[in-house]
Parts: sequence; structure tokens; C-alpha cells
Amino acid sequence: MSIKIAVLPGDGIGPEVIEQALKVLKAISEKYDHHFNFCFADIGAVAIDNYGDPYPNDAHDTCLKADAILFGAIGHPKYDNDPKAQVRPEQGLLRMRKLLSLFANVRPIKSYPSLIHLSPFKADHIKNVDIVVYRELTGGIYFGKKGLDDGGQSAYDHCVYSKDEIERIAHEAFKAAQSRRQKLTLVDKANVMATSRLWREVVQEIAPTYPGVKVEYMFVDNAAYQVIYYPQQFDVILTSNLFGDIISDEASILAGSLGMLPSASLGPETALFEPIHGSYPQAAGKDIANPIAAILSTAMMLEYLNLNEEAKDVRRAVRLFLENGFGTPDLKAEKTIECSFSGELLAALVYDKNAEFKIKNIVDSLSTII
Ligand code: IPM
Ligand code: MG
Repeated sequence: MSIKIAVLPGDGIGPEVIEQALKVLKAISEKYDHHFNFCFADIGAVAIDNYGDPYPNDAHDTCLKADAILFGAIGHPKYDNDPKAQVRPEQGLLRMRKLLSLFANVRPIKSYPSLIHLSPFKADHIKNVDIVVYRELTGGIYFGKKGLDDGGQSAYDHCVYSKDEIERIAHEAFKAAQSRRQKLTLVDKANVMATSRLWREVVQEIAPTYPGVKVEYMFVDNAAYQVIYYPQQFDVILTSNLFGDIISDEASILAGSLGMLPSASLGPETALFEPIHGSYPQAAGKDIANPIAAILSTAMMLEYLNLNEEAKDVRRAVRLFLENGFGTPDLKAEKTIECSFSGELLAALVYDKNAEFKIKNIVDSLSTII
């Protein structure tokens, strides 16, 4: 099977974690005799440096021609503290999402039994957390008209949603709820915002088509509290662009480390897979970044490509890696190892059918435990 994958490593730790994800994909291709054709392109600050554009046409063409997109991270500190910068790396990401119509951002958040000790919460409090956030990604306040008025004395960001935009992601979220625990929570601010009231209207219209799914409505301020107070009450969370951005970062604390969380962004043409952790510039180039979120993003990508056995191998490798006490420094693991070595070990675990028995040999032959 031949599959074309656009690879956009981006900024900060993006290139390092993507390199590890590619090691894992290469192990899959050898094991199953698939041919992954990786096509690289620049996005973000690195694309501004090389082309003066955070999402050059070449990168867009590469994405359009691909069966799936693997993306690292975007952002550079030199732009963060310069509110007057005309071109920003993040514009590249937003343009890519819009041009590829990646309207549904899917962010699963699970607590891993072997990582529960990393969380600031008591083990019992976060046991069995299994949430998936469906965040709308191409509308709302991110894409509304924005600008300055009164000669720079005031600024505005409009939040606009059409019924169509809400409907298409709501259907995706309902379908996910149907295949999970049959519960959907719409998170909004319908007591204040007109767009949120439209979200409620649309969800109420659609709900009868999914009779098994229990629907709850929750204001975002209360949701921010409930996600921490009683996370097990959530199954699928459906929400708008900005609220989803915030709630998903908040909920990620339940998983122990932001370095564990993958995501998918789905559209009508193609789909993009990325770790949610961002560019983490303080760690860039130090070989300490956690590649698991990027590697689990490849598992989501394999599932999207209907390579389900292959995806299971990746998930099993991650589980074995963690259960055997391995991890990058953020995981405060018993055996703390580098990002690059983590990639090698995970690729070996993916490739080897008897990994469970051989993990000790693999570890003995690699001697870079730090
Ligand atoms: C995310 C990020 C982006 C967003 C930034 C980098 C523009 O925070 O993917 O969650 O706000 O969508
Ligand atoms: Mg975010």
C-alpha cells in the first residue's frame, strides 16, 4: 500500500518530535510492507525565515496532494512579545486550517494508569478519565473580522458562526458519542452570547437524530470548573473554537503531561494530525521533548487511513514503554531517556512482535539512559 504523507515539522520542538514519529512510521512500513511517501514542507516561523510567508503556496500544494498531514508545532518567542509584528507564525496555522477546511479538531484526553502519579490530582480523582473534545476549528472569533478603531485606541474581534458550520461539527461529535459512552456536552456561553444560543438551537435540532445520545448543556465557566472537579462525568465535549482551545489545554492536566496528547483535525478533503503541546521553545534542540504526543498522533493518523492493526501496534508500544518505566524528563520516569532514544525504543517496540519479552534485551543493547 502506498500512502503520501505531508510532513510539516514547524518550529521549536516540532522537528524533534516529528523525527521520532517518522521512526515509528518507518517501523510500521517495514513490518507491514507499506510504502509511506513523506513530502516535507515548511510552516510557521521557519517558513517566515525561508520564504517570508508562514504558510507558503508550496506547503499548501504538498498538503493538498497528501493522503494525510503530520504536523509538529508552530510559534517562536521572537513574535510573542511583539504585538506589532505584521507577519506571525500562527497565521500560517490558521490559514492552513481554513484553506484545508479542517473544521473538526478532535482532542482525546485519557489518564494513563502508569502516569497518574504525575498529575497534581490524587490518583482516585482522575482514575478512568476518558474525554474527547470536539473543537470547531475554522470559524468563530478566530476568523471573524478583527482590527483597530479610533486610531488604535480600541480593538475588536468579531465572533460569527453560521448554522452550517455548527451542524457539520455537531454531527461529527454526535457520531463519536454514539460509538463511545453516548453522552455529549455542549459547552457554550448561551447566557451571554448570541453565537452560543445558535449553537444550542442547532444541537437541539440535531439531537433527535441520535436518540441514544444524552445531551447536556453547560456554560463554559462552569465547564472549566467541572472538568477539574468531576472529569469522569464527560464523554464527548462539543464546543466552539476559542472555548475548545482553552478547555482542551485545561483538561490535558488530567493526563499528567501535555506531552502525551495527540489530536486530529478533520476536513472534507484531508486530515491533519498533531501533538497539542505546541512549540515549547525552551526545550528545543535539547533532546528532552516528549515525542509521545506526536507518536500517538500517528496512531490517530493510521486509524484515519483504516490501518487499524498498525495503529494498535503504536498504542501498544507506547503502553509498554510507559509500563516499563521509560519516559522523557517531563514524565519523571524511573528510566529517564532522551527524545531521540525514546523514538528509537518506541520504533523497536512497534516492530517487534515479541516486544514484551524482548524489551529487556532492547534496553540492554541501548545504553543511553540518562
Ligand atoms: C492550538 C494552538 C493554536 C490555537 C495557536 C498556536 C494559534 O493553541 O492548536 O490549540 O489557538 O488554535
Ligand atoms: Mg491551544
